[in-house]
Amino acid sequence: MGDNLLQIDDLTLHYGGSQILNGISMAAAKGQVTCVMGTNGVGKTSLLKAISGTHPRSGGGYRLDGQEIGKANAHMLAQRGVAYVPQGREIFPFLTVRENLETGFACLPKDQRVIPQEVFELFPILKEFLGRRGGDLSGGQQQQLAIARALITRPKLLLLDEPTEGIQPNIIKQIGEVIKLLRQRGDMAIVLVEQFFDFAFELGDHFVVLERGKIKLDGRAGTIERDRLHAAVSV
Ligand SMILES: Nc1ncnc2c1ncn2[C@@H]1O[C@H](COP(=O)(O)OP(=O)(O)OP(=O)(O)O)[C@@H](O)[C@H]1O
Ligand SMILES: [Mg+2]
Repeated sequence: MGDNLLQIDDLTLHYGGSQILNGISMAAAKGQVTCVMGTNGVGKTSLLKAISGTHPRSGGGYRLDGQEIGKANAHMLAQRGVAYVPQGREIFPFLTVRENLETGFACLPKDQRVIPQEVFELFPILKEFLGRRGGDLSGGQQQQLAIARALITRPKLLLLDEPTEGIQPNIIKQIGEVIKLLRQRGDMAIVLVEQFFDFAFELGDHFVVLERGKIKLDGRAGTIERDRLHAAVSV
């Protein structure tokens, strides 16, 4: 795996006095989907918070495109190409679709503050709804908006936290297609946190299963059998 865009090494994270991540080491390669799996409360979201800088890690190494990342907050990491689509989407309900997308401009230099045409090719519905308020979209459309907003920054690393949660099957399918298209471009590493097993299994090139803040299983598609992966995420 010469093309690891993300490499974390013995990463730990605390909330106050409680340790949630206990030494996570993993990598994510360009042009691949790395799925982070595991049952509720094992630390999947906390891992994405550490990688996105939304919550500081307490220890461990973090390399992005070969460069060591020291202490860096979310804004700095966004500028370095890390885009985070949080669990629950967190779009702004009172802003329009266009304004929601434009919030992604904050970490871009002024001359790059345009919505890439590609965003509307991936999510045509957003073009149609540019003037609607985010809060008036369906859950699935809001999820599409959240992903689109992340793409505004033309990221190198895209972090997706349970994008299928609470979403109708037809939009889940569309989101799966978008993830495949982004992978195909080959210039972006995608880390997908997902509990919808079939969705993750179909998309993943690489699977990392967490259990109580540790890695329980790390394997590649094609070398890890479906049943074994399913068992690992089910207990
Ligand atoms: N801000 C916080 N302060 C204290 N504890 C927290 C905080 N956020 C999460 N936790 C705890 O950390 C642990 C891991 O939570 P996290 O949200 O990372 O899990 P998760 O795997 O994403 O779960 P889920 O599948 O439900 O989204 C849980 O025990 C949770 O209660
Ligand atoms: Mg979570």
